[in-house]
Amino acid sequence: MNGPAAGQPRHVPVLPAEVLHYLSPAPGQLVVDATVGVGGHSLLLASHLGPEGRLLALDQDSAMLAVARSRLQGLPVQLVPSNFDQLRQVLDEQGIDRVDAVLAYLGVCSDQLNEAGRGFSFQQAGPLDMRMDPESGEPASALLKRLSERDLADVIYRFGEERFSRRIARKIVETRRETPLATTEQLAELVRRCVPRPKSYRPTIDPATRVFQALRIAVNDELSALEGLLAALPRCLKPGGRAVLISFHSLEDRRVKQAFADRERWQVLTKKPVVAAEEEVRDNPRSRSAKLRAAIYRPVV
Ligand SMILES: C[S@@+](CC[C@H](N)C(=O)[O-])C[C@H]1O[C@@H](n2cnc3c(N)ncnc32)[C@H](O)[C@@H]1O
Repeated sequence: MNGPAAGQPRHVPVLPAEVLHYLSPAPGQLVVDATVGVGGHSLLLASHLGPEGRLLALDQDSAMLAVARSRLQGLPVQLVPSNFDQLRQVLDEQGIDRVDAVLAYLGVCSDQLNEAGRGFSFQQAGPLDMRMDPESGEPASALLKRLSERDLADVIYRFGEERFSRRIARKIVETRRETPLATTEQLAELVRRCVPRPKSYRPTIDPATRVFQALRIAVNDELSALEGLLAALPRCLKPGGRAVLISFHSLEDRRVKQAFADRERWQVLTKKPVVAAEEEVRDNPRSRSAKLRAAIYRPVV
Protein backbone atom coordinates (compact mmCIF):
# COMPACT_ATOMS: atom_id res chain seq x y z
CA MET A 1 0.00 0.00 0.00
CA ASN A 2 1.20 3.52 -0.74
CA GLY A 3 1.12 6.56 1.50
CA PRO A 4 1.02 7.16 5.22
CA ALA A 5 -0.94 4.03 6.03
CA ALA A 6 2.10 2.02 4.88
CA GLY A 7 4.08 3.22 7.91
CA GLN A 8 6.77 5.85 7.54
CA PRO A 9 5.47 9.41 7.29
CA ARG A 10 7.43 11.33 4.67
CA HIS A 11 6.47 14.87 5.54
CA VAL A 12 9.31 16.78 7.20
CA PRO A 13 8.19 19.72 9.34
CA VAL A 14 9.49 23.02 7.95
CA LEU A 15 11.25 25.75 9.93
CA PRO A 16 11.27 23.68 13.16
CA ALA A 17 13.67 25.96 15.10
CA GLU A 18 11.76 29.08 14.00
CA VAL A 19 8.40 27.57 15.02
CA LEU A 20 9.76 26.86 18.52
CA HIS A 21 11.37 30.30 18.73
CA TYR A 22 8.22 32.24 17.82
CA LEU A 23 5.70 30.05 19.64
CA SER A 24 7.87 29.63 22.77
CA PRO A 25 5.97 26.61 24.11
CA ALA A 26 6.51 26.22 27.89
CA PRO A 27 5.56 23.62 30.53
CA GLY A 28 1.92 23.78 31.58
CA GLN A 29 0.75 25.67 28.50
CA LEU A 30 -2.27 24.93 26.35
CA VAL A 31 -1.24 25.00 22.69
CA VAL A 32 -3.13 24.32 19.42
CA ASP A 33 -1.61 22.78 16.31
CA ALA A 34 -4.39 23.59 13.85
CA THR A 35 -2.86 21.41 11.10
CA VAL A 36 -1.39 18.31 12.74
CA GLY A 37 -0.68 16.45 9.46
CA VAL A 38 1.67 13.57 10.29
CA GLY A 39 2.50 15.23 13.59
CA GLY A 40 6.03 16.55 13.01
CA HIS A 41 5.47 19.99 14.53
CA SER A 42 3.15 18.53 17.18
CA LEU A 43 5.95 16.19 18.33
CA LEU A 44 8.25 19.17 18.77
CA LEU A 45 5.67 21.32 20.54
CA ALA A 46 4.26 18.61 22.84
CA SER A 47 7.73 17.72 24.10
CA HIS A 48 8.00 21.25 25.56
CA LEU A 49 4.67 21.26 27.42
CA GLY A 50 5.47 18.89 30.30
CA PRO A 51 2.92 16.63 32.04
CA GLU A 52 0.69 19.58 33.01
CA GLY A 53 0.54 21.04 29.50
CA ARG A 54 -1.69 19.97 26.65
CA LEU A 55 -1.61 20.16 22.88
CA LEU A 56 -4.87 20.21 20.96
CA ALA A 57 -4.16 18.98 17.43
CA LEU A 58 -6.69 19.49 14.63
CA ASP A 59 -6.86 18.17 11.08
CA GLN A 60 -9.72 17.75 8.65
CA ASP A 61 -8.11 14.66 7.11
CA SER A 62 -8.80 11.49 9.10
CA ALA A 63 -5.95 9.64 7.34
CA MET A 64 -3.49 12.24 8.68
CA LEU A 65 -5.01 12.03 12.17
CA ALA A 66 -4.47 8.25 12.13
CA VAL A 67 -0.76 8.68 11.35
CA ALA A 68 -0.41 11.46 13.92
CA ARG A 69 -2.14 9.33 16.58
CA SER A 70 0.47 6.58 16.31
CA ARG A 71 3.40 9.04 16.31
CA LEU A 72 2.18 11.11 19.25
CA GLN A 73 1.32 8.26 21.61
CA GLY A 74 2.34 8.93 25.20
CA LEU A 75 2.47 12.69 24.75
CA PRO A 76 -0.11 15.11 26.20
CA VAL A 77 -1.87 15.49 22.86
CA GLN A 78 -5.57 15.43 22.08
CA LEU A 79 -6.47 14.90 18.41
CA VAL A 80 -9.61 16.54 17.07
CA PRO A 81 -11.06 15.92 13.60
CA SER A 82 -12.09 19.39 12.51
CA ASN A 83 -11.62 22.15 10.00
CA PHE A 84 -9.53 24.85 11.65
CA ASP A 85 -12.13 27.48 10.78
CA GLN A 86 -14.15 25.85 13.61
CA LEU A 87 -11.42 26.46 16.20
CA ARG A 88 -13.61 28.57 18.52
CA GLN A 89 -16.35 25.88 18.48
CA VAL A 90 -13.74 23.16 19.17
CA LEU A 91 -12.48 25.07 22.21
CA ASP A 92 -16.06 25.58 23.43
CA GLU A 93 -16.74 21.84 23.14
CA GLN A 94 -13.59 21.14 25.17
CA GLY A 95 -14.57 23.70 27.83
CA ILE A 96 -11.50 25.80 27.02
CA ASP A 97 -11.69 29.57 27.27
CA ARG A 98 -8.42 30.66 25.66
CA VAL A 99 -5.07 29.10 24.70
CA ASP A 100 -1.41 30.17 24.89
CA ALA A 101 -0.43 29.58 21.28
CA VAL A 102 -1.71 28.49 17.87
CA LEU A 103 0.29 27.06 14.98
CA ALA A 104 -1.10 26.58 11.48
CA TYR A 105 1.00 25.21 8.65
CA LEU A 106 -1.27 25.61 5.64
CA GLY A 107 -1.74 23.42 2.59
CA VAL A 108 -1.19 19.69 2.24
CA CYS A 109 1.46 17.26 3.52
CA SER A 110 3.84 15.33 1.28
CA ASP A 111 2.01 12.23 2.51
CA GLN A 112 -1.25 13.48 1.02
CA LEU A 113 0.49 14.47 -2.24
CA ASN A 114 2.18 11.09 -2.52
CA GLU A 115 -1.02 9.09 -2.02
CA ALA A 116 -2.12 8.50 -5.64
CA GLY A 117 -5.71 7.72 -4.67
CA ARG A 118 -6.20 11.22 -3.24
CA GLY A 119 -5.60 12.90 -6.59
CA PHE A 120 -3.61 15.87 -5.26
CA SER A 121 -0.60 15.45 -7.51
CA PHE A 122 -0.16 15.44 -11.28
CA GLN A 123 2.92 13.28 -10.70
CA GLN A 124 0.77 10.38 -9.50
CA ALA A 125 -1.84 8.68 -11.66
CA GLY A 126 -5.13 8.73 -9.80
CA PRO A 127 -8.72 9.95 -9.62
CA LEU A 128 -9.21 13.74 -9.59
CA ASP A 129 -10.44 14.03 -6.01
CA MET A 130 -8.26 16.50 -3.99
CA ARG A 131 -10.54 16.68 -0.95
CA MET A 132 -8.63 16.89 2.33
CA ASP A 133 -11.79 15.70 4.06
CA PRO A 134 -13.14 13.00 1.71
CA GLU A 135 -16.44 13.04 3.62
CA SER A 136 -17.27 16.62 2.72
CA GLY A 137 -17.66 18.74 -0.40
CA GLU A 138 -17.22 17.61 -3.99
CA PRO A 139 -14.18 16.10 -5.72
CA ALA A 140 -12.23 18.10 -8.32
CA SER A 141 -13.73 15.96 -11.11
CA ALA A 142 -17.24 17.15 -10.12
CA LEU A 143 -16.07 20.77 -10.10
CA LEU A 144 -14.57 20.34 -13.58
CA LYS A 145 -17.88 18.93 -14.76
CA ARG A 146 -20.13 21.52 -13.09
CA LEU A 147 -18.43 24.92 -13.47
CA SER A 148 -19.07 27.16 -16.47
CA GLU A 149 -16.15 28.05 -18.74
CA ARG A 150 -16.01 31.50 -17.20
CA ASP A 151 -15.98 30.18 -13.61
CA LEU A 152 -13.30 27.64 -14.47
CA ALA A 153 -11.12 30.37 -15.96
CA ASP A 154 -11.74 32.48 -12.88
CA VAL A 155 -10.69 29.69 -10.46
CA ILE A 156 -7.56 28.92 -12.50
CA TYR A 157 -6.61 32.59 -12.75
CA ARG A 158 -7.39 33.61 -9.17
CA PHE A 159 -6.07 30.58 -7.31
CA GLY A 160 -3.37 29.47 -9.73
CA GLU A 161 -2.30 32.88 -11.08
CA GLU A 162 -2.18 31.14 -14.49
CA ARG A 163 -1.95 33.49 -17.50
CA PHE A 164 -3.46 30.93 -19.86
CA SER A 165 -6.52 30.34 -17.67
CA ARG A 166 -9.06 31.14 -20.43
CA ARG A 167 -7.42 28.85 -22.93
CA ILE A 168 -7.31 26.03 -20.36
CA ALA A 169 -10.96 26.58 -19.34
CA ARG A 170 -12.06 26.49 -22.98
CA LYS A 171 -10.18 23.21 -23.53
CA ILE A 172 -11.73 21.69 -20.38
CA VAL A 173 -15.23 22.53 -21.63
CA GLU A 174 -14.50 21.21 -25.13
CA THR A 175 -13.02 17.98 -23.76
CA ARG A 176 -15.75 17.26 -21.23
CA ARG A 177 -18.39 17.31 -24.00
CA GLU A 178 -16.74 14.12 -25.26
CA THR A 179 -15.16 12.53 -22.16
CA PRO A 180 -15.44 13.35 -18.45
CA LEU A 181 -12.18 14.57 -16.92
CA ALA A 182 -11.71 11.99 -14.22
CA THR A 183 -7.97 11.41 -13.74
CA THR A 184 -4.91 13.45 -12.80
CA GLU A 185 -3.11 12.35 -15.98
CA GLN A 186 -5.95 13.54 -18.24
CA LEU A 187 -5.98 16.99 -16.67
CA ALA A 188 -2.18 17.37 -16.56
CA GLU A 189 -1.92 16.44 -20.27
CA LEU A 190 -4.73 18.83 -21.21
CA VAL A 191 -3.01 21.72 -19.39
CA ARG A 192 0.39 20.95 -20.94
CA ARG A 193 -1.21 21.11 -24.39
CA CYS A 194 -2.63 24.59 -23.65
CA VAL A 195 0.44 26.29 -22.20
CA PRO A 196 3.29 27.17 -24.60
CA ARG A 197 6.74 25.98 -23.58
CA PRO A 198 9.07 28.85 -22.63
CA LYS A 199 12.00 29.37 -25.00
CA SER A 200 14.59 29.58 -22.21
CA TYR A 201 16.69 26.55 -21.37
CA ARG A 202 16.27 27.17 -17.65
CA PRO A 203 14.26 24.47 -15.89
CA THR A 204 10.68 25.62 -15.38
CA ILE A 205 7.83 24.22 -13.36
CA ASP A 206 5.32 21.90 -14.99
CA PRO A 207 2.38 24.06 -16.18
CA ALA A 208 0.03 21.59 -14.46
CA THR A 209 1.39 22.78 -11.07
CA ARG A 210 -0.60 26.03 -11.06
CA VAL A 211 -3.85 24.43 -12.26
CA PHE A 212 -3.63 21.64 -9.67
CA GLN A 213 -2.99 24.24 -6.95
CA ALA A 214 -5.98 26.28 -8.12
CA LEU A 215 -8.33 23.31 -8.13
CA ARG A 216 -7.16 22.12 -4.71
CA ILE A 217 -7.76 25.58 -3.24
CA ALA A 218 -11.25 25.68 -4.78
CA VAL A 219 -12.21 22.10 -3.82
CA ASN A 220 -11.22 22.68 -0.17
CA ASP A 221 -12.32 26.32 -0.02
CA GLU A 222 -8.89 26.94 1.47
CA LEU A 223 -8.88 30.73 1.49
CA SER A 224 -12.26 30.96 3.25
CA ALA A 225 -11.04 28.47 5.86
CA LEU A 226 -7.91 30.57 6.41
CA GLU A 227 -10.00 33.72 6.77
CA GLY A 228 -12.21 31.87 9.27
CA LEU A 229 -9.15 30.89 11.32
CA LEU A 230 -7.64 34.40 11.20
CA ALA A 231 -10.97 35.88 12.36
CA ALA A 232 -11.23 33.32 15.18
CA LEU A 233 -7.69 33.78 16.57
CA PRO A 234 -8.47 36.90 18.66
CA ARG A 235 -11.36 34.97 20.25
CA CYS A 236 -9.15 31.96 21.01
CA LEU A 237 -5.80 33.34 22.23
CA LYS A 238 -5.07 34.66 25.72
CA PRO A 239 -3.77 38.25 25.72
CA GLY A 240 -0.01 37.72 25.25
CA GLY A 241 -0.70 34.46 23.37
CA ARG A 242 1.21 33.69 20.19
CA ALA A 243 0.17 32.79 16.65
CA VAL A 244 2.46 31.33 13.98
CA LEU A 245 1.19 30.77 10.45
CA ILE A 246 3.19 29.15 7.67
CA SER A 247 1.94 29.68 4.11
CA PHE A 248 2.93 28.15 0.81
CA HIS A 249 1.76 30.73 -1.68
CA SER A 250 1.22 34.45 -1.89
CA LEU A 251 -2.60 34.21 -1.75
CA GLU A 252 -2.33 32.81 1.79
CA ASP A 253 0.61 34.92 2.92
CA ARG A 254 -1.16 38.12 1.87
CA ARG A 255 -4.17 37.27 4.03
CA VAL A 256 -2.01 36.48 7.07
CA LYS A 257 -0.07 39.72 6.62
CA GLN A 258 -3.31 41.72 6.38
CA ALA A 259 -4.80 40.13 9.51
CA PHE A 260 -1.66 40.80 11.58
CA ALA A 261 -1.59 44.42 10.32
CA ASP A 262 -4.38 45.22 12.83
CA ARG A 263 -2.28 47.05 15.44
CA GLU A 264 -5.19 47.20 17.88
CA ARG A 265 -4.85 43.45 18.26
CA TRP A 266 -1.48 42.19 17.08
CA GLN A 267 2.16 42.85 17.87
CA VAL A 268 3.98 41.55 14.82
CA LEU A 269 7.17 39.57 15.52
CA THR A 270 8.19 39.08 11.88
CA LYS A 271 8.31 42.30 9.89
CA LYS A 272 9.10 40.26 6.81
CA PRO A 273 8.10 36.62 6.45
CA VAL A 274 10.71 34.18 7.73
CA VAL A 275 11.93 31.74 5.09
CA ALA A 276 14.00 28.57 5.27
CA ALA A 277 17.80 28.83 5.27
CA GLU A 278 19.70 27.39 2.30
CA GLU A 279 20.69 24.33 4.28
CA GLU A 280 17.07 23.49 5.13
CA VAL A 281 16.01 23.98 1.50
CA ARG A 282 18.77 21.59 0.43
CA ASP A 283 17.65 18.92 2.90
CA ASN A 284 13.91 19.51 2.45
CA PRO A 285 13.14 21.10 -0.95
CA ARG A 286 9.48 21.63 0.02
CA SER A 287 10.61 24.25 2.55
CA ARG A 288 11.65 26.54 -0.34
CA SER A 289 8.22 28.18 -0.64
CA ALA A 290 7.33 28.29 3.07
CA LYS A 291 6.74 31.74 4.60
CA LEU A 292 6.33 32.04 8.35
CA ARG A 293 4.65 34.99 10.06
CA ALA A 294 4.31 35.33 13.82
CA ALA A 295 2.49 37.74 16.11
CA ILE A 296 1.50 38.19 19.75
CA TYR A 297 -2.14 38.88 20.54
CA ARG A 298 -2.09 42.20 22.40
CA PRO A 299 -5.58 43.71 22.35
CA VAL A 300 -5.78 47.43 23.05
CA VAL A 301 -8.15 47.76 26.03
C1 LIG B 1 1.47 20.99 5.63
S1 LIG B 1 0.54 19.81 6.49
C2 LIG B 1 1.01 20.02 8.17
C3 LIG B 1 2.20 19.24 8.54
C4 LIG B 1 2.45 19.10 10.03
N1 LIG B 1 2.71 20.37 10.65
C5 LIG B 1 3.58 18.14 10.27
O1 LIG B 1 4.65 18.55 10.74
O2 LIG B 1 3.39 16.96 9.96
C6 LIG B 1 -1.02 20.55 6.50
C7 LIG B 1 -2.11 19.71 7.15
O3 LIG B 1 -3.18 20.59 7.43
C8 LIG B 1 -4.38 19.98 7.10
N2 LIG B 1 -5.31 21.06 6.78
C9 LIG B 1 -5.24 21.93 5.73
N3 LIG B 1 -6.27 22.79 5.78
C10 LIG B 1 -6.98 22.50 6.88
C11 LIG B 1 -8.15 23.06 7.47
N4 LIG B 1 -8.81 24.08 6.92
N5 LIG B 1 -8.59 22.53 8.63
C12 LIG B 1 -7.95 21.47 9.21
N6 LIG B 1 -6.85 20.88 8.67
C13 LIG B 1 -6.37 21.39 7.54
C14 LIG B 1 -4.08 19.06 5.96
O4 LIG B 1 -5.01 17.99 5.91
C15 LIG B 1 -2.66 18.60 6.31
O5 LIG B 1 -2.69 17.41 7.03
